[in-house]
Amino acid sequence: MRQAHLNPAIFHYYKEPLMIVEGRGQYVFDEHGRRYLDGFAGIVTVSVGHCHPHVVAAANAQNERLQHTTTIYLNPNIAEYAAALATKMPGDLKVCYFVNSGSEANDLAILMARAYTANYDVIALRNAYHGASAGTMGLTAHSTWKFNVPHSFGVHHALAPDPYRGPWGYSDHDAGRKYAADVSELIAFATPGRVAAFIAESIQGVGGAIVYPEGYLREAYAHVRAAGGLCIADEVQTGFGRTGTHFWGFETQSVIPDIVTMAKGIGNGAPLAAVVTTPAIAQALTSRIHFNTFGGNPVCCAIGKAVLEVIEREGLQANSLKIGKQLLTGLRKLQNKHTIIGDVRGRGLMIGVDLVKDRDTKEPARLECAQVFETARELGLLIGKAGLHGNVLRIKPPMCITESDARFLLEVLDRAFMKVVT
Ligand SMILES: Cc1ncc(COP(=O)(O)O)c(C=O)c1O
Repeated sequence: MRQAHLNPAIFHYYKEPLMIVEGRGQYVFDEHGRRYLDGFAGIVTVSVGHCHPHVVAAANAQNERLQHTTTIYLNPNIAEYAAALATKMPGDLKVCYFVNSGSEANDLAILMARAYTANYDVIALRNAYHGASAGTMGLTAHSTWKFNVPHSFGVHHALAPDPYRGPWGYSDHDAGRKYAADVSELIAFATPGRVAAFIAESIQGVGGAIVYPEGYLREAYAHVRAAGGLCIADEVQTGFGRTGTHFWGFETQSVIPDIVTMAKGIGNGAPLAAVVTTPAIAQALTSRIHFNTFGGNPVCCAIGKAVLEVIEREGLQANSLKIGKQLLTGLRKLQNKHTIIGDVRGRGLMIGVDLVKDRDTKEPARLECAQVFETARELGLLIGKAGLHGNVLRIKPPMCITESDARFLLEVLDRAFMKVVT
């Protein structure tokens, strides 16, 4: 049925396709009832655990009361949820726009920045993923996602601040400033000198869990603001406590953006996304009508509010920090044992393991990565793959993962690395 009636460009993840029919907490089950530890959370989306009872109850109660209305009427859910979300934001970030996906959120953020600044040019980063809509395809900087059609008007891609593969490495304490200087160069050489926005994920997700050197965003934001631009943080993967030390990924770089976009973990799987900005910037969108049929849907807002409550009540940010440390420590031990592991990086439960054929050349070990990935599935663990060359293992489980799950994950990966045939 899938082959006959679904988009032929979708792909499945394993040689033998996996059918998932049920989920509970950090586990999913196939149609034969086999349990897997979900180390990828439905692509970093199931933040508080599959079918969390509090989230399910909130969704069910709202489904029985009113499934849909729009912002042309009042409804308490959208306002209560916006108020709850605003309490999580620093500075003057208190106006929320609700949409349905991360791509839509980023499209809206760029529109907002262009309307507010009356500038057009946008700086994004190489190795970024911001979505696949016509607009966000231009922001995304991986050839694999870019169709050969006109896009990217006014978008310029700065150097990815990647301390593993980029020109300035982990031992360079000035790397943040050096990478950010490329943003300034780009503004000077590729734009009229004035820009609408700079957009960056707080840790690059699809690009392979790239953690920027300290000070990078602070320096980059300063260059952009000096050129009249707004700074947009894409928190689609890094938000809602996943990085462990902070609720938002941008806080790990000590900056406050002008616009924040969020999706995925915000709704634990419900089609919910948001853009949060300041009252002054929000005014720019009042020059025309702005409307979104499903944005702020009462069921999604009930779910979003329940997700925030679960993160708080169950201390899931602290758990991300604790289990993230356990995983990073364990993976670094595996790095000492398996030469194929070139780099282990990440923050909290946003982790990447970069596999290389040779630690000096850093040649991506794409096929070997695929082997590890398949063996892990055979042993009951689902993880993700990332990076332009598909050589980075992505470990981004639901934030309710336990210590014993983490031990299991490390054991499985150890066995999978031992089985790699080069
Ligand atoms: C950082 C980031 N931004 C935006 C998006 C696009 O989100 P969506 O697929 O909901 O449109 C993604 C999706 O993977 C993402 O990882």
